[in-house]
Amino acid sequence: MPKQTVCILCGGRSSEHEVSLQSALNVTAALDREAYKVLLVGIARDGGWQLYRDGPFAIHTDDPARTALADGGELVVPLALDGGMCLMAVASGERLPVDVVFPVLHGTFGEDGAVQGLLRMFHVPCVGCDVASSANCMDKDLAKRLMDAAEIPNARFVMIRSGDDWDADEIAGRLGLPAFVKPASQGSSVGVSKAKSIPELAEAIRLAMRYDTKVLVEEAVAGREIEVAVLGNHEPRASLPGEVIPKHEFYSYDAKYLDEDGAVLIAPAELDPVLTACIQAEALRVFRALGCSGMARVDFFLKTDSTLLVNELNTIPGFTRISMYPKLWEASGIRYPMLVDRLLQLALEQYADRQQNRTTR
Ligand SMILES: Nc1ncnc2c1ncn2[C@@H]1O[C@H](COP(=O)(O)OP(=O)(O)O)[C@@H](O)[C@H]1O
Ligand SMILES: [Mg+2]
Repeated sequence: MPKQTVCILCGGRSSEHEVSLQSALNVTAALDREAYKVLLVGIARDGGWQLYRDGPFAIHTDDPARTALADGGELVVPLALDGGMCLMAVASGERLPVDVVFPVLHGTFGEDGAVQGLLRMFHVPCVGCDVASSANCMDKDLAKRLMDAAEIPNARFVMIRSGDDWDADEIAGRLGLPAFVKPASQGSSVGVSKAKSIPELAEAIRLAMRYDTKVLVEEAVAGREIEVAVLGNHEPRASLPGEVIPKHEFYSYDAKYLDEDGAVLIAPAELDPVLTACIQAEALRVFRALGCSGMARVDFFLKTDSTLLVNELNTIPGFTRISMYPKLWEASGIRYPMLVDRLLQLALEQYADRQQNRTTR
């Protein structure tokens, strides 16, 4: 078999730039070089695409907070050419064909359908969810509406748009306190607060509004945080569930990335087999209800009475060695290099499937 060329996209313009670089370091290291040729593209904070042919693409890699793209990337632009995509080096004009793209990008522009749409325009297979499911999962308001339509239990919420008149007193009356406030389309707990009083609620809403034009206020759910990794297209598989035990008040940005002891990740979680099977089945139901393909991590709250609420879906979950998504597959029998390979193959299969559909009359 000829080698396939994989373009890894990482970095990006979101608040999860550093995490993305950490994820990409691991994905790149796990790729089987006998089967794949790698084109590593770091997207700088200004949006420029930089190709790293040799040498490290990231610096300060042992400090997650300071990890950054290295100097020396070569500016490239994506082009649609001969019915597929290539990267063109801006300085030399050299064209490098790409067979499949793995966007190892989190958050805005990476996980929200933007890059998926761009790659679709360029006729190139792309790992993970398509445009619509990426966009729907990224926007917590839309995701919850789709869950409601499919009768998938999730926390009660109020959505506020910027410019709306809102009254913290009235919202607290409907949802109770404490309440969680979050921008509709962020990630990594950026802009998320737990509000315990009416003034805190008002302040939290103002804070979240800085990150988004839509803000969600949710009832606080007391329970365990359980996560399931899903992999596949038409017949997706659910991993064993894992558990996150945050050491902070909740699973905040600091607890996720800055404080080494911020949270304990347990894979697999301690759960009885019946509950495990229920959680896995629910994860697959959510994956399908939101139209996902390739991969997603489904995050739940498991209440003390064993009822399950979906918190959210992450369509490009963390891929660092200690991230939950690869850890859960490891615990379920799929090792990291095999997982990366499977994701690339799923992208190619999904693309081939879509080619069957006519785009003209
Ligand atoms: N309704 C809720 N009840 C209890 N805890 C919550 C609730 N919503 C969020 N949290 C806490 O905040 C964290 C981040 O919220 P989440 O909605 O997952 O945002 P993000 O997309 O940034 O990860 C969760 O992992 C959990 O610890
Ligand atoms: Mg989350």
